[in-house]
Amino acid sequence: MNFSNTLIHWYLQNKRDLPWRNTVNPYQIWLSEIMLQQTRVAQGLPYFLKFIDRFPTVFDLANADEQEVLKLWQGLGYYSRARNLHKTSQIVALNFEGKFPDNYNDLLELKGIGEYTAAAIASFAYNENVPVVDGNVFRVLSRYFNIETDIASSGAKKEFTALAKELLPDGKTNLFNQAIMEFGALQCVPKNPNCENCVLNSSCLALKFKKVSDLPIKLKK
Ligand code: ADE
Repeated sequence: MNFSNTLIHWYLQNKRDLPWRNTVNPYQIWLSEIMLQQTRVAQGLPYFLKFIDRFPTVFDLANADEQEVLKLWQGLGYYSRARNLHKTSQIVALNFEGKFPDNYNDLLELKGIGEYTAAAIASFAYNENVPVVDGNVFRVLSRYFNIETDIASSGAKKEFTALAKELLPDGKTNLFNQAIMEFGALQCVPKNPNCENCVLNSSCLALKFKKVSDLPIKLKK
């Protein structure tokens, strides 16, 4: 089996059961992705459930007072995320009749939605063929393909995005993007990954060349 299908196979057997993975609702996916920026899944999960309960739709969030949104956000930190979340919900409610844009380019136009978040929503909700590139993806790809590009360099994002795009299996972008991020979070972890027990260990170049602990390369700026 090739890299992409091996990852998907691993994912289906090992994934955590997380509520935003059981939906293609772009509002819920957007909410989860904003919350999970700079925040661990275990910390973000109760907030996600609280928000979905109090604001089941983008209209409910748009109609709330900012103070209430900030209050519910309390403890998650980076409060500009909550303020952007609220503002963007109002734009989607008022200008888009409550429907999130259904493609990567239009999603990028929204406040607080950058390349990663646009790709996550476009692929998870709409299965659009756009790769997600976050820290997990940098790590998994740099190790598996033995890529020595400094991930803090200006060209790194473009290089890894192009590679990730080539790896997307036809019609399964959604699964592949979830899979590679989950693999980075659970298996190909930053420190002391358990390579003896890894489905990719027979073809991983970093393992072959004993460079797992050196990759990805991230030079201090
Ligand atoms: N971190 C950021 N996005 C995530 C997702 N969709 N699932 C799990 N962890 C994440």
